[in-house]
Amino acid sequence: MFKILKKEYLANNIWLMDIEAPRVAKHCQPGQFVIVKMDEEGERIPLTVCDYDREKGTVTIVFQTVGASTMEMAEYEVGESFEDFVGPLGCPSELIEMPLDELKKEKILFVCGGVGTAPVYPQVKWMKEHGVDVDVIIGARTKDILILEDEMRKVAANLYIATDDGSYEFKGNGCDKIKDLYAQGKSYTKVVAIGPMIMMKFVCLLTKEMNIPTIVSMNPIMVDGTGMCGACRLQVGDEIKFACVDGPEFDGHLVDFDQAMKRQAMYKTEEGRAKLKFEEGDT
Ligand code: FES
Repeated sequence: MFKILKKEYLANNIWLMDIEAPRVAKHCQPGQFVIVKMDEEGERIPLTVCDYDREKGTVTIVFQTVGASTMEMAEYEVGESFEDFVGPLGCPSELIEMPLDELKKEKILFVCGGVGTAPVYPQVKWMKEHGVDVDVIIGARTKDILILEDEMRKVAANLYIATDDGSYEFKGNGCDKIKDLYAQGKSYTKVVAIGPMIMMKFVCLLTKEMNIPTIVSMNPIMVDGTGMCGACRLQVGDEIKFACVDGPEFDGHLVDFDQAMKRQAMYKTEEGRAKLKFEEGDT
């Protein structure tokens, strides 16, 4: 059993929990994810790791209540336990796997939005701990739904906030802020975009035009998390990839976002899931 040691409401139906999971805490790396199962019959919920403390043996997860399972999860209190907490799954972030001297030569910009700010945080924290300066843009519709701003400010070289309604700092979305930074003379050799698929799609369209290599972290529906069920399949260039074992990070300029969003929408209904299985010859 995996005990909840801390529970905090962040904003916009987004919750943070520290879970006692020493084995996962010992091995996980930024970019990886876990699958949480609340009880025996519970749905398997994939969540990216937001932070970890190897000494305390804790892993921080951040989730938004978007359906019945995550709503039920938000009802768990400190002291209660989850039945299963499987991980770390997926590949660590491609940047932290680079030789440090090469990484230090890169000028990296992270662009995150919504609950996607959570998986960006451990990557930026890792960069700071290894002496790599990176800039971060957090985009949100409005100031009230920003999460992890203070935490990110401590680890980013420069943190820029972009709000659609202009209620805080820059008025506009993440793409507008990238253009604004370039207009101010900034430039980057790599962008990492993590957030809602639609946001990642538009960041990638822009960075493709600007010729900046871009990494995205895909968050499709996952079922088994082991490459067996096919639920998380994605078209990446000419290849079919599985986010759970080949990702979750991919070259954003090769990902077929329209297909990924269509699959995500279909998976929300029983009928859609059956249709997808039929189309893919999955029996
Ligand atoms: Fe089943 Fe990835 S979640 S193949």
